[in-house]
Amino acid sequence: MLRLTNYLAAIACLLLASLHVVYADNSAGCGKSPTLKSQSYNMQVNGKQRQYFVKLPDNYDSNRPYRLVFTWHPLGGSAQGIVNGGNPSSGGILPYYGLPPLANNSAIFVVPNGLNSGWGNQGGEDITFFDQLVKTVEADLCVNTNLRFSTGFSYGGAMSYALACGRPNMIRAVAVLSGGLLSGCQGGTSPVAYYGQHGTRDSVLNVSGGRQMRDKFVSNNGCQKLSSEPQPNGGTSVMTKYTGCKEGYPVTWVIHDGDHNPSQVNQGSSTPFAPQNSWDFFTQFS
Ligand SMILES: *[C@@H]1O[C@H](CO)[C@@H](O)[C@H](O)[C@H]1NC(C)=O
Ligand SMILES: *[C@@H]1O[C@H](CO)[C@@H](O)[C@H](O)[C@H]1NC(C)=O
Repeated sequence: MLRLTNYLAAIACLLLASLHVVYADNSAGCGKSPTLKSQSYNMQVNGKQRQYFVKLPDNYDSNRPYRLVFTWHPLGGSAQGIVNGGNPSSGGILPYYGLPPLANNSAIFVVPNGLNSGWGNQGGEDITFFDQLVKTVEADLCVNTNLRFSTGFSYGGAMSYALACGRPNMIRAVAVLSGGLLSGCQGGTSPVAYYGQHGTRDSVLNVSGGRQMRDKFVSNNGCQKLSSEPQPNGGTSVMTKYTGCKEGYPVTWVIHDGDHNPSQVNQGSSTPFAPQNSWDFFTQFS
């Protein structure tokens, strides 16, 4: 009898182990009927009320593990502003950084709202907000936990950078658009796939700051340093894909000749290049 019990226990362990392998990347929300909808919510973080929006894909399927994309607003912006979007031809940001039309309903978007319209991340409180958002969203919705991404312009880029530094094991890749070192870099010693873009004429957060941020991940990711700094080709941006990076930890850098602008276009184009570039960078992972 004892032997039979042991035998059954061993089989149960094997079954659990194999299930773990198969489902390890799926969040707890997979298979549940969701309570979250495409709307705004509040949560308490360190005793402060924080607001965020969720955007579900059309025809949300609780058995499909989706990408989870965080989109952080710039200073003076708001989560509502990222949801609504602004006119790119006057420096506005497309809704959700222009990613949903490219995502073809393969992603859940989370849009956090900053305290004082920014991401000061005092005592790490905005990173804690992120941690709680991941927990809350993934308890309810089906997410591939290997496919979490973060993007933002300016202060939103700074916040994505802070996540790359502080939560390297939770974030698959970041896209930092015209960022600066404004939200800190607690940690910052592990590799994270990094897309950065910056304008040489940035009058708000200068390009040397953007290059320094990039270089941290060029180094962390083990990429080969460049012998000379890439320059824009007139009004056309230049994309550099670093070589020699550790498997799974690429760095892509786009330099353009513009100012502090999330919706920079190449000469002769009316389509901002950040969305397609970022989405291509994110979707190299599956
Ligand atoms: C969008 O996704 C659907 C369902 O996964 C797929 O059948 C379709 O081919 C995709 N369309 C594009 C343009 O990728
Ligand atoms: C860029 O900005 C940083 C931070 O404000 C500043 O310390 C640095 O001197 C600036 N560099 C240049 C080349 O303007």
